[in-house]
Amino acid sequence: MKRMIGIFDSGIGGLSILEKLREFLPKETFLYYADTKNSPYGNKDKNELIKICFKAVDYLVQEGCKVIVVACNTATTICMKRLKEKYKDIIFIGTVPAIKVASDAKYKNILVMATPLTIKAMRTKELIKDNIKNFQNIYLVGCEGLAEAIEKGNVQEVQKILKNSFKEYKDKNIDVIVLGCTHYPFIKNEISKEMPNIPLIDGAEGVAKEVKRQLEKNNLLSKEQEGTAYFVNSKML
Ligand code: DGL
Repeated sequence: MKRMIGIFDSGIGGLSILEKLREFLPKETFLYYADTKNSPYGNKDKNELIKICFKAVDYLVQEGCKVIVVACNTATTICMKRLKEKYKDIIFIGTVPAIKVASDAKYKNILVMATPLTIKAMRTKELIKDNIKNFQNIYLVGCEGLAEAIEKGNVQEVQKILKNSFKEYKDKNIDVIVLGCTHYPFIKNEISKEMPNIPLIDGAEGVAKEVKRQLEKNNLLSKEQEGTAYFVNSKML
């Protein structure tokens, strides 16, 4: 049996990560689990979300995945510790808001947009404490309902949420926007309409590089000529 790399998110968001993974690791085979049955993740109770993530991982483990990419900032910032405790033999790679990337690039006024749960997470607070320097300001914006509107393809709702979310930051001289949810790269154009001429950064490349590093380190790189991706939706299981 081919060894697969498991990847999961509440829905389409993780596809923004999968795209980069396939670019960096064209010989790997991926199994993408879209957990639309439990979407959205970003407004769930913490313990409920942990149980949901256990289910997603159980499925991917049962399918033979030894490496699992949590292609969701919410699931990573809230559940990663518990996942690593429970599944000791699995190599996990998570997705966190690219606060370090923004900070290392020396941007002064950094706006992070993410789900309400990611904004509240301890892990996000740690990322800020470890990376943000004295000369930098960070603004955290919890975008309630945004991932859900993207999932549904509801452009009007997306525009409404963005307008409300950015209202108080128009005069803050924002230098960079960190897309702290894997659904948000799909609405880059809408974000840039609302906040023009501001660079947008996300964590996809960092995740892909880390997956590659882990595969090399653990001698798990695929020897196939060509990889592929399989998709499964939790509603259909
Ligand atoms: N795409 C996920 C994230 O990065 C989850 C969005 C949601 O389901 O609320 O946070």
